[in-house]
Amino acid sequence: MDSLLIRGGVPLHGTVLISGAKNAVLPIMAATLLTSEKCVIHRAPKLTDVTFMGDILKSLGAEVEVEENTITVQAARLTGTGDYDLIRKMRGSLCILGPLLARLRHARVSLPGGCVIGSRPVDLHRKGLEGLGANIRIEGGYVVATAPQLIGGDIFLGGRAGPTVLGTANVMMAATLAQGTTVIESAACEPEIIDLANFLNAMGAKITGAGSPTLRIQGVEQLHGAEHEVIPDRIEAATFAIAAAATDGEITLKGARPDHFGAVIDKLREAGVRIDRSGPDLIVKRGSELRPVDVTTMPYSGFPTDVQAQMMVLMALAQGTSIMTERIFESRFMHVSELARLGTDIAIEGPSAIVKGGRPMSGAPIMASDLRASAALVIAGMVASGETLVNRIYHLDRGYENIDTKLKQLGANIERVQEM
Ligand code: EPZ
Repeated sequence: MDSLLIRGGVPLHGTVLISGAKNAVLPIMAATLLTSEKCVIHRAPKLTDVTFMGDILKSLGAEVEVEENTITVQAARLTGTGDYDLIRKMRGSLCILGPLLARLRHARVSLPGGCVIGSRPVDLHRKGLEGLGANIRIEGGYVVATAPQLIGGDIFLGGRAGPTVLGTANVMMAATLAQGTTVIESAACEPEIIDLANFLNAMGAKITGAGSPTLRIQGVEQLHGAEHEVIPDRIEAATFAIAAAATDGEITLKGARPDHFGAVIDKLREAGVRIDRSGPDLIVKRGSELRPVDVTTMPYSGFPTDVQAQMMVLMALAQGTSIMTERIFESRFMHVSELARLGTDIAIEGPSAIVKGGRPMSGAPIMASDLRASAALVIAGMVASGETLVNRIYHLDRGYENIDTKLKQLGANIERVQEM
């Protein structure tokens, strides 16, 4: 397993190109199962999760070709069962359930593994698809779904933590080929859902309301192939913006969509970070002294849970106390114990972390746990004095395209090392 060896203390300077969004391209790749015609997806990030999804589509009988950042998929002939091990390993693969059910009227998809950030239930996916007339049962680690005919219906998809992103994706995709109209209330409003809806409409679907809590899908007979360019990754952009502020540098984010992460920009400005949105690109630099701010993660357009860990590192640098409350996942503070090894003072109180910022950080060997926590540890390593070795960075490679190369181009002292 690879590690990243980082020597801290170097402010980041320069321009970074933001890649396509992981959480947009995965459901869009799943949506190609809804037609037997060819689909072409541009600005697909080179990530292990994307490779995984391609392998899953192939295991279902689709033809998949990857040429740089363009993926071509043709699902002419399909089976209903993907590769159990592949699907179990990646939660994002759950979104093949809806398309398979709509296309084949049956699907057998392995239950995705839980992951370090929480139990990852599927009750809302089940509720939504049953709302379209599907029969769903859990059997031997699989979700087994059958539907003689999908019938449009009114479905409320809000759960204990608010909307579900992949649940909304699954039900929306299945509803495109259902008989009649489907209304989804308490739908997820993330930009990735809008991007998926745009791709589905390019395939001939009839979806309105994407980006709002109420989605309306008028079922059609069949969908055709389409070509689409994926939106830029707002979580990657937010991660680099925080890295610039944390290292007291100044970077330009090329190709980012600031309107996709307004809550992060708002909190960074409150913390004293200078963000210039006047030009085509975003320019980020630490302005005055960093100030402590309180953050609560929320469904979109609130502060994203996928940026909580990275923001916590920035708050560890601000003089004063910040309270960070995680309202989306039940255990997304795995990075706290690793940050403590660098000298931070962060106490967990239920869903909140109390960050007593302003203590100096010094390097140490630390362990990555989930994708976004790994990014936070890399930022911390770039700030801590001395050397930090971040182990198990395969987590990072799942969701950040060439992150060490991009950081090196910004001046970071960072080396990928093979673990002996
Ligand atoms: C998507 O996961 C993203 N992943 C996550 O990003 C992101 O953190 C999450 O949405 C934010 O909501 C992809 O898009 C591939 P959810 P998803 O269903 O859809 C509960 C990353 O780092 N819930 O929106 O799986 C759930 O437990 C990843 O890129 C139910 O209760 O998440 C959680 O508390 C991490 N029942 C909340 O809803 C269900 O049936 C939001 O989960 C489904 C979810």
